[in-house]
Amino acid sequence: MNLPIYQLMYVSTASWPLNTDELSAILDVSRAKNQRANVTGLLLHIDQGFLQILEGPEAAVMEIFRPIERDRRHFGIRVLVQQHVAERLFGGWSMGFDRWTRGEPRTADMFKITADAIENAISPEKAAALAVLLRSFYRINTGGGAATGR
Ligand SMILES: Cc1cc2nc3c(=O)[nH]c(=O)nc-3n(C[C@H](O)[C@H](O)[C@H](O)COP(=O)(O)O)c2cc1C
Repeated sequence: MNLPIYQLMYVSTASWPLNTDELSAILDVSRAKNQRANVTGLLLHIDQGFLQILEGPEAAVMEIFRPIERDRRHFGIRVLVQQHVAERLFGGWSMGFDRWTRGEPRTADMFKITADAIENAISPEKAAALAVLLRSFYRINTGGGAATGR
């Protein structure tokens, strides 16, 4: 079967503690560009780490990812998942965003596995499962505190 959606997950580290304005600037540009490119996904900022999932047609995802790889605001990019899948996980979101803080009750269940993914570059199989888990997390945690998808 020809699976139409390319899914890319990477982890990285912020080059400095990015403030709210700096994060908003990243998100504004991301959402505009991703929407034009038909790319959707999720960006998590957890401690100083990032975990991002990009999904869409392969050429579009690679076009969006190329400048991200060169972006000086983060470093140490490690791609954990690159695969074709049947459908998008974050279809409604040009780039959902959430920031997690250690010890926050809302994210307690997900924090450890996600932090582990960022710190230790977990296997592609585990990382793909984590993507699905994150989708479920945000489906369940609708309303206050869920990722801001747009
Ligand atoms: C952690 C992180 C995530 C980013 N995510 C995206 C994204 O999803 N889409 C996007 O277009 N740019 C994203 N960017 C910004 C790009 O690196 C780049 O600055 C932006 O696309 C503008 O690139 P251009 O000037 O070459 O068009 C991200 C940057 C960082 C640091």
